Amino acid sequence: MLEVTIDGRPIHAEKDECILSAAKREGIVIPTLCHHKALAGLGSCRLCIVEVDEGSGPKVVASCVYPIKRAAIILTTSEKITRLRRGILSMLRDRAPQDPYLQRLCAEYSVPHSTRYVLPPKLKCVLCGRCVAACAALGNGAIATVGRGTAKKVSTPYDTDSSDCIGCGACAQVCPVDAIACIETKDTRTIWNKTFRLIPCERCGVPWVTKEALDVVREKTLPGTHGHVGFCPDCRKKEVLFTTRRL
Ligand code: FES
Repeated sequence: MLEVTIDGRPIHAEKDECILSAAKREGIVIPTLCHHKALAGLGSCRLCIVEVDEGSGPKVVASCVYPIKRAAIILTTSEKITRLRRGILSMLRDRAPQDPYLQRLCAEYSVPHSTRYVLPPKLKCVLCGRCVAACAALGNGAIATVGRGTAKKVSTPYDTDSSDCIGCGACAQVCPVDAIACIETKDTRTIWNKTFRLIPCERCGVPWVTKEALDVVREKTLPGTHGHVGFCPDCRKKEVLFTTRRL
């Protein structure tokens, strides 16, 4: 264990634990956007920046990816961090002006309205990379960041209906600003220019998952443990409760 101070509070941290996780454990709130607990740190949005002094002077790092390796003095809300975070928030809000989380943070940090960038109207994606990371983590790699400058975006190759996309919707679920269009009808899901048929839950009969996504889950689940793979999340929960009560 290592001892660091965060905002003057002495804190014990595991070696190589990232600053964000140590701070969170102590109830110290650092704003984040691209960070997701189920994914490896991305360090792309920079909202979680903090000042770290490990003995050679303070430097600014992204707390979600910076590992604690030695004793250090960490500040999450220094004057410099607040000023930098304000600038980052201003740029993020320019891309997703309707997002309530960014609106709240901008109000909290008194971010003035900016007119620096002329961005396409209705732009929503903040290019944090969460969706790309989630898709890659599931082994699909159907989407990537393409283009440059204001034309930069996340898409399938050439905006086509990629054969790698299984319509699982994980990308839309992890998007922090709800920028990915995932349109569902009673038994179809349309995402990334591709329409999938939803197949019914084996217990309640309500369509809930694409065949392609279910096939991947079945393939990755250990033989003999297929159990409730075909059940929708609600039915899976109910079945687990039912089984536990009988034990
Ligand atoms: S939350 Fe750390 S860089 Fe985005």
